[in-house]
Amino acid sequence: MTATERKPPGLGHRARYMSPDRTSERIAALRPTAVNMIMAEVRALPDLPRQPVSLMRGEPDLPTPPHIVAAATTALRGGRTGYPNNQGEPTLRQAVARALERENGLGYRWQDEVLITSGATFGIYAALAAVIDPGDEVLMPEPSYDAYHGVADLLGATVRPLPSRCTAGRYSLDPEALREASRPRTRALLLNTPWNPTGTIFRREELEAIQTFAEQRDLIVISDEIYEKILYDEHRHVSAASVSTAARERTIIVNSLSKSYAMTGWRLGFCAAPADLLRGMSLVLQQSSRGPSTFVQDAATAALEGPQDCVAQMCREYGERRQTVEHALGDLPGVNVCSPEAGFFTMVDVRQIGNDSNRIRRTLLTDFGVVVMHGAAYGPAAEGMLRISFATGGENLTEGLRRLRAGLQSLLS
Ligand SMILES: Cc1ncc(COP(=O)(O)O)c(C=O)c1O
Repeated sequence: MTATERKPPGLGHRARYMSPDRTSERIAALRPTAVNMIMAEVRALPDLPRQPVSLMRGEPDLPTPPHIVAAATTALRGGRTGYPNNQGEPTLRQAVARALERENGLGYRWQDEVLITSGATFGIYAALAAVIDPGDEVLMPEPSYDAYHGVADLLGATVRPLPSRCTAGRYSLDPEALREASRPRTRALLLNTPWNPTGTIFRREELEAIQTFAEQRDLIVISDEIYEKILYDEHRHVSAASVSTAARERTIIVNSLSKSYAMTGWRLGFCAAPADLLRGMSLVLQQSSRGPSTFVQDAATAALEGPQDCVAQMCREYGERRQTVEHALGDLPGVNVCSPEAGFFTMVDVRQIGNDSNRIRRTLLTDFGVVVMHGAAYGPAAEGMLRISFATGGENLTEGLRRLRAGLQSLLS
């Protein structure tokens, strides 16, 4: 039903208010995120014999490092409770600019090229809202983080998936598919490196090829680099903006402290982009969230400017958990465990079970008491896979993997 069919002419918003369907058509297109959908499903289950164990969420169980918490309490006690500067507190924007220089070799002016956001989630929204008009298209490598799609839907954009291939557990984009996917209305390419859910890091050469393509088609590249610090073995992160001067001029970097500093609940993100793009994003933020709390911004400054050994320590811990997952499932015949280069998700290939991933996920939940994410939540490219999170460790991980192993063994028999 279109808006005009639903609303009798002349009655305006009052008729809408009394209508049984009060929400906009835009809302009709929105779905809960995959995590929220599964959490609701778990809550709605009849009493299970035992409490399900979750290996689903990308939420670190490690505490925010104490010096960051201390900075927040000092700020609160010092009365830092007023409205923040809507673009972000100057001290934090300066800290972000210094971190981008130090860690990625990128120069951004803190005055007009850095924006502080409520998590990377708002950064993605602001970036897309600043560059997308209704009817435009956005390219997204698939499998893709499911929450990107809702933003595109909200803005009236069409998502065009970029197919990837998985070789020996590592995902890469097909350059041919990249060329074919672009259409006259294609406006942006939304990258995620390191890549959730695959755990792949785009190599410099891959980013160069993507940026060359973006330049040829005059696309804006939005690069979500939220897992940039959770790296394993010899792997290094390369920012999509850093591969050339031209790349920097067409790229919006989206990042956040959620994963790097175990600060998911603080809702603190940041973006960097050329001034014209950043100004658009800043307007989106001024007209909606107005940015994270002032005392949280002070804590974020302490995170970026303070000692970084806490990040290395967390990485070591995640690295051990990654091995725990591989030891627990690696020897299961019929199951292929992909080793992530970064992030805290392992993709497990369960195609030999011969059922779709959502069904497998449900059986694992109802019959074996373990919650995982089905690959299909990230698009058809990840059908036949399960995403296992090791963001939570300890007994939760041990018991979750024990149940998962038992479930997979039974489904394979
Ligand atoms: C790829 C990716 N981007 C963004 C987010 C959301 O980040 P934030 O907590 O900073 O909003 C997540 C969270 O899981 C993610 O995996």
